[in-house]
Amino acid sequence: MCGIVGYIGNTNATPILINALKKLEYRGYDSAGIAVLDKEDIVVRKCKGMIKSLEAKIADEVISGTMGIGHTRWATHGEPSDVNSHPQTNVSGTIAVVHNGIIENYAEIKSWLQNQGVVFRSETDTEVIAHLLNYHYEKTQKDIFKAVLKTLNHLEGSYALGVLCKDFPDRIIVARKDSPLVVGLGNGENFMGSDVPALLEHTREVHFLNDHEVAVLYRDRIDLFTDKGEKLIRKPFHVDWDIAAAEKNGYEHFMMKEIHEQPKALLDTFKLWNEIDLKDSWKDVQRIVITACGTAYHAGVVGKYAFEQFTRIPVEVDVASEYRYRNPVCSKNDAFIVISQSGETADTLAAVRLAKSHGSRILAITNCVGSTLSREADEVIYTRAGPEIAVASTKAFTTQLMCMYMLALKTAEIRGTMSKTELEKNLTELATISEKAQEIVDNKETIQKFAARQFNKNKVFFMGRLYDYAVSLESALKLKEIAYTHSESFAAGELKHGPIALVDNSTLVVAIATQKKLYEKLASNIKEVATRGASTLAITTDHSGLFDNTVDETFVIPETFDAFSPMLSVIPAQLFAYYCSIQRGNNPDKPRNLAKSVTVE
Ligand code: F6R
Repeated sequence: MCGIVGYIGNTNATPILINALKKLEYRGYDSAGIAVLDKEDIVVRKCKGMIKSLEAKIADEVISGTMGIGHTRWATHGEPSDVNSHPQTNVSGTIAVVHNGIIENYAEIKSWLQNQGVVFRSETDTEVIAHLLNYHYEKTQKDIFKAVLKTLNHLEGSYALGVLCKDFPDRIIVARKDSPLVVGLGNGENFMGSDVPALLEHTREVHFLNDHEVAVLYRDRIDLFTDKGEKLIRKPFHVDWDIAAAEKNGYEHFMMKEIHEQPKALLDTFKLWNEIDLKDSWKDVQRIVITACGTAYHAGVVGKYAFEQFTRIPVEVDVASEYRYRNPVCSKNDAFIVISQSGETADTLAAVRLAKSHGSRILAITNCVGSTLSREADEVIYTRAGPEIAVASTKAFTTQLMCMYMLALKTAEIRGTMSKTELEKNLTELATISEKAQEIVDNKETIQKFAARQFNKNKVFFMGRLYDYAVSLESALKLKEIAYTHSESFAAGELKHGPIALVDNSTLVVAIATQKKLYEKLASNIKEVATRGASTLAITTDHSGLFDNTVDETFVIPETFDAFSPMLSVIPAQLFAYYCSIQRGNNPDKPRNLAKSVTVE
């Protein structure tokens, strides 16, 4: 989970690389570096810390080359340090490499190279690539393209690579396997990066590389090849994102901006209703399997409840990292729904490949056009969230929910498990969710004040029943991720089976209470924790004051159908996590130890 960038053109490469890296800092930010071909030599500057540390390091230098590569790191092999930062080079510093991914057989290659006399400087898996390139460069009479192909042939694992060679001042070579990589076409200049925001300032014409593809970037063109060296001809893809959508637009943090974007994102996603055209095969689906990781998995839990409620099809939901290893029962009659904001999560992709190998049809819900998932799935529904930059997912989650509801309703429609009138009622309600979400966001100060009083709690529990339980899972994850508060989620009915032993007067319990027929039961659960000294908050759709006497505070959200409430009730929880994070002096956009796109296992 690192970000790589590259530039070749006629202007100073350094500021272009630094700016591009800033756009990818969400992918990793424990160290950064660049390699620029300046006159005759490759100048490498890299250091531990965020990109601003790198900027400070080179502030007084003039590095004037017009081509280079860059890297922002999320450490896997070797601690964050100057020497472990990328780019890594061969011994003589004539070949430089940036890499996102993990080379699984690096230890084997390393000992082979050490036996050849190579002395390693870093603990990274990437350094083996630089030395292996050097080896093949010499063996191929200094043909860097051939050397790259031969090197790729030895690598196992995942990589998006950028290679710069001092003897080839006219080209940068990039390659991909199981890590995202996009190249962008400019006018007399060309670009590469791990993700589109790195390129967007300069071009909207891109090629998303597939696995086992290589691209050679010259100043005036980009040539595409397979990793066997066969030439590929492909039309570029036009990216139509609004550039402002990838910027902060006056908000202090991307996360706050993205929370505010939810009403629009929900509406935009809802407008897809008429475009969702399920294949006929959905008529005879006998079982649905949903897999995903993290927040996307929580969207899957909501999806299970919705599918079973609307369609009566049995649904299994599993985290992708478990699914891929547990020898699951798969069948051709299963529909396999995969949810992934990035479409690049390694565990999720592995689960997809496993299900595919058993003949299951794959429907992907993703936010990223051109992502690996979108290319490997049989059907794709794109959430219309726009780019999500903050590491903690917000608008991607609520739009994933919107997609799950629409999918469940479409399935109910084609299988005749819901009357026309019922369907219309549900769609009319879904159409109101956006404005209801807006009401919640407009009332954010109430949550801000609550967070100002509670941010120091060292234990926060979220509880709920049915759909509210799914929201509890997501709420606890948000708080862990960005406030670093120990938080857990419980199905409220489980309290008495153990967790209540943890409750004391240092605990905050947040009850999500939107399931009308279970209001009373939840009120009893709240009393049980309050009696044991916990502070309590209810996030509820009840407007009658039912919870007023049982909780310390109530945050009332607009009413909706019970099934649809997660799209609303999660928003106060996102805001609570955000404000607690700020109160604790954290950076909510870049939480420690986390990266936006988990492209390694
Ligand atoms: C939480 C979060 C992660 C992701 C998870 C899956 O805020 O962002 O838990 O949801 O890493 O990522 P995607 O959806 O890209 O597959």
